[in-house]
Amino acid sequence: MVTWTLLLKEFYSLKNMNPLPIIEKFYTPGTKLYKILLDHSQIVTEKSLEIARSLSHLNPNLGFIKKAAMLHDIGIYLTRAHSIDCNGEAPYICHGYLGRMLLDELGLPPEYGFVCERHTGAGITRENIMSNDLPLPHRDMVPVSIEEKIICVADKYHSKSPKHADKKITTMQIIEELEKINKDHAKRFSIWAEEFNL
Ligand SMILES: [Fe+2]
Repeated sequence: MVTWTLLLKEFYSLKNMNPLPIIEKFYTPGTKLYKILLDHSQIVTEKSLEIARSLSHLNPNLGFIKKAAMLHDIGIYLTRAHSIDCNGEAPYICHGYLGRMLLDELGLPPEYGFVCERHTGAGITRENIMSNDLPLPHRDMVPVSIEEKIICVADKYHSKSPKHADKKITTMQIIEELEKINKDHAKRFSIWAEEFNL
């Protein structure tokens, strides 16, 4: 018997899957948060595509990047970050894996959820989660595929915060910021930045 979930999965795996109606399931057009999310997601998508086009030798899937980058921050409304109008319950660091839960529940192929879960910081290792007692499930959340790495990196070049949204962020500034959080984040990002000629 074909279940409703299977039908949904088939629907969302269609090539012409449009991220906008998915975003609008959780965010109301016209609100400040919708604009913050849309603006940021579009900028990250453009940056991701720019990086991907320069890496044709690695054969990244541009069609996938176009949609997954638009959805990478879908979980933010479930978190607490008042400066960007997020009034949820969870700590902001949870927005990645919560976004994955939303997309998994909608029946999207798991690759979309992986992008959400693995894009915060420069990915977060299980060891890092446990040793810092982070409020996250105990599993590795580090980008694995080339598409996941590209979107994670591109995301660091734009801030959603209205105070900083117009500022240009350099590779050096990103590395310095990541170093303040965790040296391993900075190291991982530096390796990717070099690999991607950023
Ligand atoms: Fe983001």
